[in-house]
Amino acid sequence: MRVIVSGGAGFIGSHLVDRLIDEGHEVVVIDNLSAGKKEYVNKKAHFVKKDIRTDISEELKGVETIFHIAADPDVRVSAINPKNSFDVNVAGTFSVLEACRKADVKRLIFPSTSTIYGEAKVIPTPETYPCAPISNYGASKLACEAYISSYAASYGIKGTSLRLANIFGERSTHGVMFDFYHKLKKNPNSLEILGDGKQDKSYLHISDCVDAFLTTWKIQKIQYDVFNVGSREKHKVDELATTMCKAMGLSPKFTYTGASRGWVGDMRLMLMDTRKIEGLGWKPKVGFEEGVNKYVSWLQSEKN
Ligand SMILES: NC(=O)c1ccc[n+]([C@@H]2O[C@H](COP(=O)([O-])OP(=O)(O)OC[C@H]3O[C@@H](n4cnc5c(N)ncnc54)[C@H](O)[C@@H]3O)[C@@H](O)[C@H]2O)c1
Repeated sequence: MRVIVSGGAGFIGSHLVDRLIDEGHEVVVIDNLSAGKKEYVNKKAHFVKKDIRTDISEELKGVETIFHIAADPDVRVSAINPKNSFDVNVAGTFSVLEACRKADVKRLIFPSTSTIYGEAKVIPTPETYPCAPISNYGASKLACEAYISSYAASYGIKGTSLRLANIFGERSTHGVMFDFYHKLKKNPNSLEILGDGKQDKSYLHISDCVDAFLTTWKIQKIQYDVFNVGSREKHKVDELATTMCKAMGLSPKFTYTGASRGWVGDMRLMLMDTRKIEGLGWKPKVGFEEGVNKYVSWLQSEKN
């Protein structure tokens, strides 16, 4: 099957491309390389360097599915530069949907985010819980979900939004674990933790995340659907730091910037109810410590 992966040179996208190629699909990657790396793109994929905000309908002709992964994924930066997450995520997704309409693509899978729930009072949070994002990034992704839902109903483009927890693993070059690793490389004796270390969230290894994309792609029956994708348990930032230090063979002193949030838009508590996607046969396979060990080994083997 011929499929497109936008953002296929990035962390999640490049792993998805590898898996699709392993399964025998013909894959076209569209990425502007603003954050992704050409060397992450599978050699068997066809690579097109292009911005999703330009017309990609030519590339979409004859394509069965687009996995629309390209985005500005940074919550922290979205507080400092709100326009970028609006432009790349909202306008970018709108542009991709318009190209699907023009090229008659009938299937789109989209990584949304746990941050769209904001400060949910129900933990684990089900898909039916009201969305009230507290970050510009979360707001931008919620707007994307709304457009995908509308295009599914209006133009018959079957859509899926996967509300992802914190995804980590090999090739990830942002997020809390990446930050800790680099701080510890610089100073193995001390680790500064943003916030009070008590933020308590769900983390999922990349291979389980890719499984979720493939499961919903193959099994979803209805025209538009939303699934939470995350681990069954949450971990405090302190525990995460301890697990990373153990994997690196270090025992630094932890210091804290002190506030209850690490940055503007940071969620203190996040755990999603994943029974809906588990009902399709998906379940996480990589344990937290096992995943952290794999990621640290990769970081240590790379010149990151
Ligand atoms: N990593 C996570 O924890 C996480 C959690 C929830 C949702 N997501 C979502 O998953 C997706 C992938 O995230 P990631 O962590 O792999 O990020 P990433 O930055 O590694 O990948 C994003 C890719 O999109 C490309 N890109 C960005 N803007 C583009 C544009 N205008 N045109 C074409 N390509 C463009 C980048 O070059 C990069 O290769 C994003 O949509 C993100 O919002 C990620």
